[in-house]
Amino acid sequence: MTFIPSVSRNRTQVAIVGAGPAGLMLSHLLARERIDSVVFECRRRADVEATVRAGVLEQATMDLLIDTGVGERMLREGALHQGIEIRFDGHGHRIALSELTGGRAIALYAQHEVLRDLIAERLRVGGDIRFEVSDLTIHDFDSARPFVRYRTNGATEEMNCDFIVGCDGFHGVCRRSVRCGACTEYEHVYPFGWFGVLVEAPPYSPELIYAHHERGFSLVSTRSADVQRLYLQCNPDDDADHWPDSRIWSELDTRVAMPSGERLRRGRIVQKGVIQMRSFVVEPMRYGTLFLAGDAAHIVPPTGAKGLNLAIADVKVLADALTSRYASGSDEALDRYSDIALDRVWAAQHFSWWMTSMLHRFNDHDSLQRRLQRAQLRELMQSRALQTALAERYVGLPLANVTPEGAPTRAPCKAAAGRAPTAAHQA
Ligand code: FAD
Ligand code: PHB
Repeated sequence: MTFIPSVSRNRTQVAIVGAGPAGLMLSHLLARERIDSVVFECRRRADVEATVRAGVLEQATMDLLIDTGVGERMLREGALHQGIEIRFDGHGHRIALSELTGGRAIALYAQHEVLRDLIAERLRVGGDIRFEVSDLTIHDFDSARPFVRYRTNGATEEMNCDFIVGCDGFHGVCRRSVRCGACTEYEHVYPFGWFGVLVEAPPYSPELIYAHHERGFSLVSTRSADVQRLYLQCNPDDDADHWPDSRIWSELDTRVAMPSGERLRRGRIVQKGVIQMRSFVVEPMRYGTLFLAGDAAHIVPPTGAKGLNLAIADVKVLADALTSRYASGSDEALDRYSDIALDRVWAAQHFSWWMTSMLHRFNDHDSLQRRLQRAQLRELMQSRALQTALAERYVGLPLANVTPEGAPTRAPCKAAAGRAPTAAHQA
């Protein structure tokens, strides 16, 4: 197979389906290596840039944004967090993330702001992102001449390419195009969801609060100096109509409360929505000239804040492997993409499951299981070793470096100091 770089309208080197974190970061990383790509997105740009989802960036995600020139606004407007609080039995316990991990940390910076930064950078350097495409289908990825067919402005068009990358999320078209029997899917659906709200208020706490309570889990997070993100465990089939503001505040007061009886400051609730909780992995993440990345290949429950970070980690490995492919003509690095990505995916699945099962209320638990859950939380607070294990996973592993031969290596993670977001939104 020969690879001819091309920027013509009906040919590209890498066709990327989906302009989420995975798709946009991949096209950005490839462009830095002078590899041509086209991104296809079914939504409007304004909707992509406004959809509220994740908020926590691992240290390695922060580093990658900074090192590749798209971290400037995150450094200015994001907030560096060096710890989290776990609250249960009416007491808060701090996990000192940075102290336990040699200075690593997380940034609170909204996913849609990362997307805005990536879109702006791609367009600044002449990148090709096609918004509002419809009826997209992928073809011939069992060959060296795959192509994407889609509708735009009322016409059907095709894009020939060397590789297709499915970055189209859990409900996208790419994974579903894989022949039945070629893949194995692993799935667990949790018997609860999260009810998420955005509130116009100043920050409630300098660090995120993960609260375990007999009425259910809750999470106090932040978005900016004026907007806060709050979550409450709810029924999986719940509806925002069942959650008038008065119920939201009363549940939060009960679940997050300290013995002092302190109440959360009220603010205008500007958005409400229910999020499903699921663990899902498809294996492998490569089918001929089709690669899957991000939520298209795996979903984690949000308790570990890993989804966006995993999507970024996947495409870093894939961009390195594609770079090696175009530079050397050898498929070796691409052949190892799936195994290297899945290693991190399963570690993140385990962490997300651990955090979810430790912190939520399970209605089918008997009294003994409830006591075991509390014992686990108490043990965590008494053991520096367990806290270190949690902190290392929460701030995230360094990204793997793919070399054409040998085992994947991990670059040492940088400490946050000196290149960290300014803590713009403190309580
Ligand atoms: P997506 O973001 O889903 O992007 C896929 C894109 O593909 C979309 O823009 C979609 O419109 C497009 N698309 C789909 N089908 C097609 C098609 N047929 N044609 C063209 N385009 C298509 N993760 C974290 O790391 N930290 C957090 O704190 C965190 N919090 C979260 C909180 C909530 C409430 C939720 C819901 C998720 C959270 N996550 C978090 C998870 C994170 O948001 C996702 O894992 C992340 O968005 C995955 O990125 P992606 O690019 O793989 O997929
Ligand atoms: C968020 O701010 O949206 C958020 C934070 C931490 C999580 C999940 C979501 O674990």
